[in-house]
Amino acid sequence: MTLHEDLNHLMAQAMSGGGKEAIDRQHARGKKTARERIDLLVDPGSFHEIDLFVTHRSNQFGMEKHRPFTDGVITGWGKVDGKTVYLYSQDFTIMGGSLGEAHGLKIAKIMDLAYQNGAPLIAINDSGGARIQEGVDALAAYGEIFYRNMRASGVIPQISIILGPCAGGAVYSPAITDFIFMTEENSYMFITGPEVIKAVTGEEVDFATLGGAKVHTAQSGVAHFTEPDEERLMTKVRWLLSYLPSNNLTPPDIQATEDPPTRLLEDISEIVPDVPHKPYDIHQVIERLVDQGEFLEVQEAFAQNLVVGFARIDGQPVGIVANQPAVLAGVLDIDASDKGARFIRFCDAFHIPLVTLVDTPGFLPGVDQEYHGVIRHGAKLIFAYAEATVPKVSVILRKAYGGAYIVMSSKHLRGDINFAWPTAEIAVMGPEGAVRIIYRKELSSADNTQQLETALIEQYRAELATPLVAASRGYLDAIIQPQETRLKIAAALEVLKEKRAPTPARKHTNLPL
Ligand code: HXC
Repeated sequence: MTLHEDLNHLMAQAMSGGGKEAIDRQHARGKKTARERIDLLVDPGSFHEIDLFVTHRSNQFGMEKHRPFTDGVITGWGKVDGKTVYLYSQDFTIMGGSLGEAHGLKIAKIMDLAYQNGAPLIAINDSGGARIQEGVDALAAYGEIFYRNMRASGVIPQISIILGPCAGGAVYSPAITDFIFMTEENSYMFITGPEVIKAVTGEEVDFATLGGAKVHTAQSGVAHFTEPDEERLMTKVRWLLSYLPSNNLTPPDIQATEDPPTRLLEDISEIVPDVPHKPYDIHQVIERLVDQGEFLEVQEAFAQNLVVGFARIDGQPVGIVANQPAVLAGVLDIDASDKGARFIRFCDAFHIPLVTLVDTPGFLPGVDQEYHGVIRHGAKLIFAYAEATVPKVSVILRKAYGGAYIVMSSKHLRGDINFAWPTAEIAVMGPEGAVRIIYRKELSSADNTQQLETALIEQYRAELATPLVAASRGYLDAIIQPQETRLKIAAALEVLKEKRAPTPARKHTNLPL
């Protein structure tokens, strides 16, 4: 039989993955196959596979008897909403999706194509990790992937989707990419598994408690998005892609919107209380501000005192960074700094303007924060804002105290257009703390300490904690009515469209890590 005659048979064999039994096992766990996942992600009929007939060349540990086509990973390209993406999808039904030399080099090839042709890379992970039988060749292939993840960083968007185990050094490819998606069940990431942990430290822990989606989206901050099932997860990946450009040389798409940029935020004053200490949910402000109230929150469950995510204003994709007064009064801490800095740097790399909503009493005081390096981590946020050259528009809603005033996209870090509501309070610290420090002697010798303190706080607030001083220096460009916030931001983004901000020649900055 000629190859031509045999091709259909060989292709059918290659397309059948690890066989019916392994596929049934995969389905029984509530998991899709590698090919079903691709179908969920890309536009119907748009997927083109390459390297279908690749096999490994290992002859050790009986491997010579088993050389399955694809070597356990499907690679190729397709379209998402009409735009090209390159992708790979590990096939757990073939040797547990483990990564040997051929498997790894297939991935490296598709990464090269994505990088050279300027389109996003999407990695669907479901793998037992380095293929044990292939030893150092498996490790070498991982190294090739990590290198390419680094090289593509800031050039093309890179998205990792974890739909099974992702263990050992294998976690570091997703960790270098821009966003990690995990399903609530069946998705695990850890450096060492429960058995090794038990042997080394004596701790007993199961897969989910060690590295499930809940841990990584809420606690460690490793993952950015989670959904209950693979269908909803893929819908979210498509949603995320809708905000992103294909690469760093093209701006993101502007979408026509029915939502007028001049729409007034009629009820905004009822949401944000005048009283500085009263909490409210910043999501309610964001929903009113952006086109059609559509907001894709990133790291929703992690460091909830800072809210970050993507939206559109007058059709223009923007990155929103907002203090959240409903959680820890909106303070900045270590996790919030890390979360904000990484998001800002992503937006800056891919021409997505930043809109910052400020309402924070400052950095969280405490021994724990100091011991864990709030100085080092907080520095990342300052660095990221200062370094970002995309249009930066900010609005101070209420409190902007201390270092947090400077950090949150202030004019001094080259914020382009800085607004404040009349309720904004800008000061070195909150009135209560300030009065106790600068009037310590007067308060300790007063007949009625409480009465004096209240009067001094009022005086401090009237003199210093208003936006007028900052506006008189030009640190604020305008004091705006809360109802006009959308209109003003939309107008600012419009005039900043052609912003140019050359950066000095250097190898790279030395971001505090
Ligand atoms: C070779 C592997 C494999 C691996 C799984 N398989 N992992 N083959 N190398 N790393 C094979 C199994 O032998 C089995 O083959 C098939 O895949 C399915 O695996 P099961 O164990 O039956 O599946 P399950 O019970 O679901 O368990 C999945 C698992 C477990 C939790 C992933 O297989 C496991 O613990 N594997 C080892 C994980 C690991 O320690 N990997 C190395 C990490 S270190 P058959 O033929 O029976 O179907 C690492 C270093 C990278 O990755 C360094 C980069 C810098």
